[in-house]
Formats: sequence, C-alpha cells, structure tokens
Amino acid sequence: MARILDRRRLVPNLHLIEVEAPEVARKCRPGQFVILMPDERGERIPLSISDWDAARGSVTSVFLTVGTSSHKLSRLAAGDEIPVYVGPLGRPSEIENFGTVLLAGGCFGIGAIYPLARALKKAGNRVLTVIDVKARYLLYWEDKLRAASDRVFIASRDFALDSKQYVPAKIEEILGAGPKVDRVIAIGCTYLMYSCAMATKPRGIKTIVSLNPIMVDGTGMCGACRCTAAGRTKFACVDGPDFDGHEIDWDELFKRRKSYFDDEIRSLCYWERKEFP
Ligand SMILES: Cc1cc2nc3c(=O)[nH]c(=O)nc-3n(C[C@H](O)[C@H](O)[C@H](O)COP(=O)(O)OP(=O)(O)OC[C@H]3O[C@@H](n4cnc5c(N)ncnc54)[C@H](O)[C@@H]3O)c2cc1C
Ligand code: FES
Repeated sequence: MARILDRRRLVPNLHLIEVEAPEVARKCRPGQFVILMPDERGERIPLSISDWDAARGSVTSVFLTVGTSSHKLSRLAAGDEIPVYVGPLGRPSEIENFGTVLLAGGCFGIGAIYPLARALKKAGNRVLTVIDVKARYLLYWEDKLRAASDRVFIASRDFALDSKQYVPAKIEEILGAGPKVDRVIAIGCTYLMYSCAMATKPRGIKTIVSLNPIMVDGTGMCGACRCTAAGRTKFACVDGPDFDGHEIDWDELFKRRKSYFDDEIRSLCYWERKEFP
C-alpha cells in the first residue's frame, strides 16, 4: 500500500498526485515512470515521474483524466491508500551537456518535462522550453519551468499567450529564427510527439520522444508495449520510454494504442453508471 500525500486538480482535466514512496524518491531519475493501481479491482497504469522529494520521501505525477483508471485516481484524496505503486521504471533519459536543448511539453507532458529541464540546465545546457496548451486556463507549472529554463515559449491556440501555433509550428519558427539547437525532447500525447519529430526531421536534429503505449507489467514480460524503432522490435517499458522520434514506426504505435478503444469506452460508461465499483 502507498499513501497519497496530495491529489489536486491543476487545471480542469489534469491532476497532480503526490505519493509517499521513499524508495522510489531515493532512486528515480528524469525520464522514468511509475506503475500504479487506483484500487484493488483496477488496472495498472503507467505515469511519468514529474517531480520528487527525496527528503520528504515523495513522488509526484501529473495525469490526464481519460478513461476508468485515471477517473478513479482523480476521485482519491490525501490520506487514501493505493494498493500498487511500483518504480522507478524505464531507462532514465540521457542527461549530458548537449549544448542547446529544446524541450516541448503538452498536456501531462508539461509536468513530465520539468525534471528534464532541471537536470539538463544543471548539466550546463541552454534550455529552451515550449509549452503547448489549447487555452490559457489549461496552463500549469509555468513558474517551475521558467525557473528551470533559459527561455519559455507558450503556444496556446486561444491567442491568449505568446503565440497561437501548434507546438511543431512553434518549434519550426524557433529553429528558423537561428539558435543552433542540438537536441529536441518532446513529451505529451502521441500526436504531439509525432508532429515534433516530423518538424525536426528535415533539419536532422536528434529528437527524443517518451513513448506512451499501453503497458501492463512494465517489466518487459507481457509484450503489451511493443513498438518498432529503427526497424527493430522494442518494449517501451524496458528499452524506453525514450526513443529517437525519427526511428519510430508511428503508424504501428497509433494503431496499437487503439487496440482496446471500444472496451475502454464501455468500461468508463459502466463505471460512470456505477455498474461496477
Ligand atoms: C511510460 C508512460 C508514461 C505515461 N505518463 C503519463 C503521465 O504522466 N500522465 C498521464 O496522464 N498519462 C501518462 N501515460 C498514459 C497513461 O498511462 C494512460 O492515459 C492511462 O493508462 C489511461 O488509463 P485509463 O484507464 O484512464 O484510460 P483507458 O481506458 O486505458 O483509455 C482511455 C482512452 O482514451 C484515449 N485517449 C485520448 N486521449 C488520450 C491521452 N491524451 N492519453 C491517453 N489516452 C488518451 C486512449 O486512446 C484510450 O483509448 C503514460 C503512459 C506511459 C506508457
Ligand atoms: S508493459 Fe509488458 S512488456 Fe512492456
């Protein structure tokens, strides 16, 4: 059992969850994730580690409410206990002095890029961060990212902030304006990561994406997270989640993520009608 220290809504569809997990907090590194179960009847879901505090013994993630498990998680509160909290999982992100690194985060990825910004800055990089939001009211952690970055650009499609472009267009604009960028790292929904990889491909700038396929065990045993990178079969939970975005078979990934779509929708409908706890 792991105790929830904090669970609060950051913006309408995104929540923060801080869990007491001293072992995970002591060992985790940027780019890693945890697997948790919201209740004993639930399924195991992976969430990126967005922050941690080794002294407090806590680990924080930001999650989007999409289906049954994330909705269940959003109903929990500080003091509640969850039956499964496993981590840190996955290979840590590569952190070294690359020069200038452009980070792009959307949705839960805004939280997930924060430990990377912090670590890359500490490693001596110039860190440029692009945050993608659909509208101003969906923006969170701007202050944390500004503190960890040399420059922050906010692309919001309601005209309210720096620009209204979708993040790949903003990346193209930044790259076109001149600063030499040595590496791009994108985290968020699959479409955002795919679009960022496509935007940087013609310029040959290495672009790392943190893949989020369906996962079950998170230890390389079940095969649920199978993907193809550079023509070779990989398991995102143990070989990733970071991969070179120019090497991913995106069509396969998009298809595999939809494998249980009908069941997922049905499950959420049953749960909302309280036909199972
Ligand atoms: C390594 C890894 C790290 C992850 N980190 C995070 C994280 O930090 N925060 C987070 O919110 N999620 C993260 N995810 C995704 C998260 O695990 C899933 O959103 C979660 O398992 C959904 O469970 P569910 O039961 O709520 O929804 P399900 O019932 O499993 O699925 C809901 C349906 O919603 C659809 N959907 C629509 N938009 C989205 C979207 N943006 N993301 C996912 N599904 C969508 C899916 O295709 C799916 O069919 C990560 C996934 C992986 C593999
Ligand atoms: S989640 Fe089972 S092999 Fe990756």
